[in-house]
Amino acid sequence: MTAIPGMMRAIDPAAPGGPEVLEIVERPVPAPGAGEVLVRVAAAGVNRPEILQRQGKYPPPPGAPSIPGLEIAGAIVAVGDDVDAGQVGRPVCALVAGGGYADYAIAPFGQCLPVPPALTMIEAAAMPETLFTVWTNLFERGFAADGDTVLVHGGTSGIGTMAIALCRLFGVAIIVTAGSDEKCAACVALGADHAINYKTTDYVEAVAAITGGRGVAVVLDMVGGDYVPRNLKCLGDDGRHVSIAVQGGGTATIPIVDVMRRRLTLTGSTLRPRSVAFKSAVAEELARTVWPHVAAGELKPAIDRVFPLARAPDAHRRMEAGDHVGKIVLTMADHAAPRFEM
Ligand SMILES: NC(=O)c1ccc[n+]([C@@H]2O[C@H](COP(=O)([O-])OP(=O)(O)OC[C@H]3O[C@@H](n4cnc5c(N)ncnc54)[C@H](OP(=O)(O)O)[C@@H]3O)[C@@H](O)[C@H]2O)c1
Repeated sequence: MTAIPGMMRAIDPAAPGGPEVLEIVERPVPAPGAGEVLVRVAAAGVNRPEILQRQGKYPPPPGAPSIPGLEIAGAIVAVGDDVDAGQVGRPVCALVAGGGYADYAIAPFGQCLPVPPALTMIEAAAMPETLFTVWTNLFERGFAADGDTVLVHGGTSGIGTMAIALCRLFGVAIIVTAGSDEKCAACVALGADHAINYKTTDYVEAVAAITGGRGVAVVLDMVGGDYVPRNLKCLGDDGRHVSIAVQGGGTATIPIVDVMRRRLTLTGSTLRPRSVAFKSAVAEELARTVWPHVAAGELKPAIDRVFPLARAPDAHRRMEAGDHVGKIVLTMADHAAPRFEM
């Protein structure tokens, strides 16, 4: 095993700005605290919240590293107190509160999942953020279940593509929206039952037609604003509306009588500020319910494009351009330091 160096490459902008602020700098390799592990990062997923963080609109929560990056895959190279030293060398992927855009990152051990042979490190790095988010929102808060039909906006997003994969796996019919015919075709190719081009078609009318007027059981919404009252029209009786982002506006006017008459539930959540205990409980649940399918090669993330760490600005430009389908991933494979063999 290679010795752990004192310094590492990382992306840690001194000030907010455009993609060009994502320059590689040197930072000390962090040390794991109690219940944590140090991971030599092989790959890190890119997520929309990192764009907002870079722009200064989404500061890291207290105690989280200023280095961006919410999900990683790599090998455990050191453990803190309360973690079995036998874990060193284990390939894992992990949800982290920050720090992923670096050669080494700290992860709470409870938020790690093993990387099975069925997954590459790039695929493993592309899973935690969307898997934890879709699982806790669509399936736990929204109670999506076998036989249900759900509506998910942003079908080609990292979140949307994971929702399509999980719905396929668990017998849930999924209708998605996307902003072009090409994106709609990509969603159907990934397994969506229906894809609606929201720029050319009224998705409320389309959902009514697809469901024979019954509506869907759950809407997973990342748009907010005037989508919310429209989404409520798409819900059937006892339907659940789950908000995970407000890209189209943070306030909405809704017909309360409709909520009462059709017994609708409005809920939502943000993953990043939740406690390690909560995220570890989700990881445990995912290990039981979803990970056997991952190990069997039945669930993989849709990968859009992979960039070396030094091209993080291009990775952000690609996400901001909005042409991606699935996940954008950074790989650390180009660094000069000797690789830890996995
Ligand atoms: N609450 C949480 O815990 C949590 C966790 C992770 C992510 N998120 C949020 O989930 C969203 C997706 O994240 P991601 O990383 O998967 O991002 P992403 O791949 O960049 O996807 C963003 C998606 O939003 C869609 N979109 C944007 N504005 C829209 C509008 N006005 N109408 C309809 N669709 C619109 C885009 O669809 P088109 O290109 O087809 O227009 C695109 O598919 C982000 O907003 C992110 O902040 C929330």
